[in-house]
Amino acid sequence: MRFDVLTLFPGMFASPLGASIPARAMRNGLLEVELHDIRAYASGRHQSVDDTPYGGGGGMVMTPGPLVAAIEAVKAARAPRRVIALGPQGRRFDQRVAVELGGLERVMLICGRYEGIDERVLEGWVDEELSIGDYVLSGGEPAAMVVIDAVTRLLPGALGNELGAWEESYSDGCLEHPLYTRPRVFRGREVPEVLLSGDHAQVARWRRAAALSRTRARRPDLFATLPLDEDDERLLAETESEPRVEAEGEPREPRTFPGTGRGSPNVYVALVHYPVYNKRRDKVATALTNLDIHDLARLGRTFGVRRTYMVSPIAAQRGLAQRIVSHWIEGEGPARNPRRCEAMRRVGVAADLEEVRGEIERLEGRTPKVVATGAGFGADALGYAAARAQLRREGEPPWLLLFGTGWGLHEEIVAQCELKLAPIFGVDSYNHLAVRTATGIILDRLLAEDDGKYGA
Ligand SMILES: C[S@@+](CC[C@H](N)C(=O)[O-])C[C@H]1O[C@@H](n2cnc3c(N)ncnc32)[C@H](O)[C@@H]1O
Repeated sequence: MRFDVLTLFPGMFASPLGASIPARAMRNGLLEVELHDIRAYASGRHQSVDDTPYGGGGGMVMTPGPLVAAIEAVKAARAPRRVIALGPQGRRFDQRVAVELGGLERVMLICGRYEGIDERVLEGWVDEELSIGDYVLSGGEPAAMVVIDAVTRLLPGALGNELGAWEESYSDGCLEHPLYTRPRVFRGREVPEVLLSGDHAQVARWRRAAALSRTRARRPDLFATLPLDEDDERLLAETESEPRVEAEGEPREPRTFPGTGRGSPNVYVALVHYPVYNKRRDKVATALTNLDIHDLARLGRTFGVRRTYMVSPIAAQRGLAQRIVSHWIEGEGPARNPRRCEAMRRVGVAADLEEVRGEIERLEGRTPKVVATGAGFGADALGYAAARAQLRREGEPPWLLLFGTGWGLHEEIVAQCELKLAPIFGVDSYNHLAVRTATGIILDRLLAEDDGKYGA
């Protein structure tokens, strides 16, 4: 892995790169870091690299001339596969991005200083901006060191322990379990008994349960996106502080669909609030409702839907949805009503379908098949017997079922879908169902156990 770092302060890197894992990785030829002094590309007697901002205001801005000269020279010599500027307005750097960068082999990192970099450089010469967090540093150098360090420990051989980095926090979307070492008792505090048992399966179960409940308590945002399987659900239920309320009657064994190893085929649901029709067939955005969130969450959990998304481009609406979900999955929510928490945990909030698709791709490693539902579709829509069969085909991608609020999904969304499902009809042509009702009926038709029950 090679990093070319453009900076006004190359001296800052000596100590972090001179010790521990990055230093060893450099010695072993796994990591190469070349520092390029931006000032060396500045002309004039003073080699000036900054100037006052147009429009006034305090501070200085990095001028485009020396920076672009540096970028172009290093690009020509080193052919980086991505040019990244560190900046507080960029995409958030996290473990997933670290893995992504590790796969690129050659990356250029540009460290800003002063009030920042002239916008035209970012527009014309930089592939993306990365931020290491929602705070402002005095310069991009500490951020570049963070990126280099996080990527380096993922390089095969860098830790001298192949599995090390892949077992840590975030590598599977979870925080890591607590760690203990000798002595067994320290000032009266004991190491959990199970870790001394030598029973590897029990240790693994304990660690998974601890990682899950720790993630739920400390990072509900991460927890909400975890793809939990039935074992995880069971482990969590066992670690819940309050006794679990069982439904009346015999508890049912979870069923497993062939080919998925899960309780149902891979189905995702999105409740779309824009673009949809109103009754005059205008294109509108509708308001989110608390009832939709609760009912769809419970429905989704019942049928093993992997995640149910509330999709709205309006930030305040998304904030409201997130608050409602958080109320049930954070703080006392899980202990007060574990069942509701279990359902709400599968609810996601997204600005648009692109975001939903992106998340499913990350979770599944595959692009979902997007399927529209609507009360007015005609003969080109797929009937339920055929849809059930298609959903269960070997190698079938996950399905993302779209449900429209208001008076239904706008045609521009339907046009992006690969499939349309037939409308639900009852006794005659009246079929104005609430979206919650339609979702319930459609999920039952697609996912209920009895294969022979429904006609075309
Ligand atoms: C004082 S900051 C500029 C902040 C800028 N005026 C703003 O408000 O967005 C100077 C430089 O520090 C670096 N920097 C500051 N905060 C950062 C963060 N959270 N992540 C990555 N780089 C950061 C960037 O390179 C930035 O150009």
